[in-house]
Amino acid sequence: MPPVRSKVEIGSWGAHYYDLFLNVLSLGRYSHFIRHVIEKMDIKPGQSILDLGSGTGRNDCFMAEKVGSRGRIVGLDISDEMLGRALKHCCKYTNISFKKQRIELPLTYKEEFDKVFISFTLHGFEDDRKLGIIHNAHQAVKPGGAFYILDYSEFDLGRMWFPLRWAFTRWECQLAVEFLKLDIKEMLRSQGFTNFEEEFSLKGHLRLLKAVKPLVSTP
Ligand SMILES: C[S@@+](CC[C@H](N)C(=O)[O-])C[C@H]1O[C@@H](n2cnc3c(N)ncnc32)[C@H](O)[C@@H]1O
Repeated sequence: MPPVRSKVEIGSWGAHYYDLFLNVLSLGRYSHFIRHVIEKMDIKPGQSILDLGSGTGRNDCFMAEKVGSRGRIVGLDISDEMLGRALKHCCKYTNISFKKQRIELPLTYKEEFDKVFISFTLHGFEDDRKLGIIHNAHQAVKPGGAFYILDYSEFDLGRMWFPLRWAFTRWECQLAVEFLKLDIKEMLRSQGFTNFEEEFSLKGHLRLLKAVKPLVSTP
């Protein structure tokens, strides 16, 4: 059987157990990890954040606490099951909304958000679709705002500790393997992003990559 190209479109069974799976995989430290990542995003009260592929909404709840009641979080996802879970998960936050939307297709947002965020989702798209998503992020974010990508970093799979490599190649899709070699900064540059900053975790295997939309775009 040919390798599965993408696994980011998650079915109802996967959506049901998604948070539990991450909790088990991280030995109960996933919430701590994601809170740490969100701390690095320099989120200020009153800011607006667009989350592309928002999943079960766990990250959005943490971001909602940071932006406070004057701020706004919008999560986009294609899966009804994920959207249902996110609505339940975030029901106590009045500053979060979710919408069913394919994130690689044109979005209606024009320079509305201080930040755009995507976590563990971008790797699962073919390159032309990745460019579409990056373009959408660039359109949606205000000049001077930032696009944050939390995903696998560029690393040599062959040098990974054997049990982890075994788990990665069995669990992950072909596009995730290709993502490890991809020059994502070049893609971001091609869509107008600049001033990259990186934060690594899990022994350099994961990266929060920040890309800024300049105040004045170069023609
Ligand atoms: C691996 S999960 C990550 C969820 C969340 N960002 C997180 O970090 O926990 C990928 C998410 O992207 C969503 N997704 C996949 N393809 C999508 C698409 N084309 N448009 C919108 N959402 C999509 C899935 O439904 C799923 O919720």
